Amino acid sequence: MKYKDEYQRWLNDPDKYWLKAAEDIDWTKFPEVALNSSKAPIYSWFDDGMVNTCFNAVDRHVQNGMGAKTAIIYDSPVTGTKKKISYSQLLISVNRLAAAMSSRGVKKGDRAIIYMPMIPEALIAMLAVTRIGAIHSVVFGGFASNELAVRIDDCKPKIIIAGSCGIEPGRVVEYKPLLDEAIDQAKHKPEIRVIFQRDECNAELNDALDHDWFDFQKGFEKIDPVPVGAMDPVYILYTSGTTGQPKGVVRPSGGHLVSLAWGMKNHYNIGPDDVFWAASDVGWVVGHSYIVYAPLIVGCTTVLFEGKPVGTPDPGTFWRIISEYKVKSLFTAPTAFRAIKREDPNGNYIEKYDLSCLASLFLAGERADPDTVFWAQKMLKVPVIDHWWQTETGSVIVGNPLGIEPLEIKVGSPSVPMPGYKVAVLDENGKEISNGELGAIALKLPLPPGTLPTLWNAETRFKVSYLNNFPGYYETGDAGLIDRDGYVYIMARTDDVINVAGHRLSTGAMEEVLATHDDVAECAVIGVPDQLKGEVPVGFICINSGVNRSSELIEKEVVLLVREKIGPVASFKTVAAINRLPKTRSGKILRSTMVKIANSESFKVPATIDDKTILDEIYLALRRYGYAKNKNF
Ligand code: COA
Ligand code: AMP
Repeated sequence: MKYKDEYQRWLNDPDKYWLKAAEDIDWTKFPEVALNSSKAPIYSWFDDGMVNTCFNAVDRHVQNGMGAKTAIIYDSPVTGTKKKISYSQLLISVNRLAAAMSSRGVKKGDRAIIYMPMIPEALIAMLAVTRIGAIHSVVFGGFASNELAVRIDDCKPKIIIAGSCGIEPGRVVEYKPLLDEAIDQAKHKPEIRVIFQRDECNAELNDALDHDWFDFQKGFEKIDPVPVGAMDPVYILYTSGTTGQPKGVVRPSGGHLVSLAWGMKNHYNIGPDDVFWAASDVGWVVGHSYIVYAPLIVGCTTVLFEGKPVGTPDPGTFWRIISEYKVKSLFTAPTAFRAIKREDPNGNYIEKYDLSCLASLFLAGERADPDTVFWAQKMLKVPVIDHWWQTETGSVIVGNPLGIEPLEIKVGSPSVPMPGYKVAVLDENGKEISNGELGAIALKLPLPPGTLPTLWNAETRFKVSYLNNFPGYYETGDAGLIDRDGYVYIMARTDDVINVAGHRLSTGAMEEVLATHDDVAECAVIGVPDQLKGEVPVGFICINSGVNRSSELIEKEVVLLVREKIGPVASFKTVAAINRLPKTRSGKILRSTMVKIANSESFKVPATIDDKTILDEIYLALRRYGYAKNKNF
């Protein structure tokens, strides 16, 4: 089968194409209808289908005689733990927790927040929530309590399931105090709290409010999976937008199952006999799709890795895992490879391991810089597949479909659109522009099954964020181009989102935090290039007149404030106090000009700027921190 034929097959009859793909899923009621356009530009898929996600990820494999097969390999160098969990064992654990939740009144449509590190219990909790038709929202452990509080108030969970701690190299991150503070801050108070106590940290439980994970489940055994409508959400995952209020991306149950099963086979070339490893975190979309759901839906083995690419204990950890568990494909962010390359540029650790099992490396989450791709190709001697997707789509938009036809790799491009996606490059008027020109990347509506139908309780925001600018298209927020061969290049974001170590963050949200400091009059945060993390945020603050405390002290305080309010994951370490921000005469902050100065790009000083001298101050401030190597304006 050729990629072009497959893409054409989809184009000829998308409904037929997706109904055929839906046959890989076990439905309680198979859908008769594929797309429903009656409420365009809001679309839905498989409306009349009924399905359960947990059944497809666990029960059906046990029923098909695969119960003894390993579902999850848990490898945690930070705790020195290794464990294998079979599909039968997983079913027992999931059943027990699901039954316990159900008996406490958690039911179809209720929300459950999961705040857990990379441990099997996180997956068990996710699956148990879907088993009873409830909706989970996993919150990444690197976020501070304020971020957790915002999510609690937005999705109003009936239950919160948390771990007692996460483990970062050199420190134990206690989750319980963060959780308590978040609940204190939030207006909505979840009825039920369940805490999984880890050996590394015993959280103090409040007998009146908190349940211990094991006590909560005592005496419960099982519960049948609850079928839900195909468009009922399986989860809500919050992602950064342009403000401090994250966007609650809604994932529809039916389309999610269909698109992940399709992608595993056709894009990643993974089947039931394979071991797949996504080195990410369950708190991100990569973790949802490729640590948890996709591998389990196809019935293969997934690796759950609690550690870092370097330092746990050395830059050979990835290679140890691949050889020890016979991993066929690794999926991670380029930043992980940059970290390894920095510590082991000649690949000395790679030589210690037999990596003959590895067939491919998949990179996503940020732009795959050519240096990293070439290094990975040279070291691993397997196809290095860059592919582009977003939390919103939940699966690959542009990629290289190894399961259909491995295409030529053009380094710098994630390759070509997958069936389901018509990718267009638009000018500012929404007109499609010709091959090779840079513009806003948009996707022709409707989007395929599994993509977000809306934002949680925020349909207007959904339309404003994604649909209104370019009628008939979904606006991705990325800019780029398509070459003559149809290869797509993703070059930059068109909004205030930056990508730090493969983590999507909002500079707007950081500005909102800086602005809360009593001594800060004005501020701006930009993303600047970083050799390891791809991008890191740098802040500029203007201190209120009359403040006579030292600017160094205030700089330190605002760095701490971002860590407290957003979390360590923001990697916000650099801030400079300056006299004024560069603005247009109408008062718009010239953030893109500041980014150009940081990048040492040459540019013409905007004619609309109100005071050119301020650019020199920005330049000097950036130089002080090792950015803006040359002045080119
Ligand atoms: N819980 C608590 N804190 C966390 C955390 C978590 N789950 N994840 C990260 N943090 C903290 C880190 O400890 C660090 O804190 P520090 O400022 O005290 O050092 C901070 O958040 C920034 O983390 P990170 O950006 O990840 O930097 P790092 O220096 O710890 O590690 C890499 C750098 C490259 C090794 C790391 O980012 C990595 O492994 N990236 C892989 C990419 C990835 O998984 N992407 C996900 C999408 S595919
Ligand atoms: P997230 O929603 O966290 O997955 O982040 C999605 C964003 O990450 C995209 O909109 C892009 O800006 C960026 N991104 C993801 N994959 C790639 C890629 N392969 N190349 C370039 N940018 C990418």
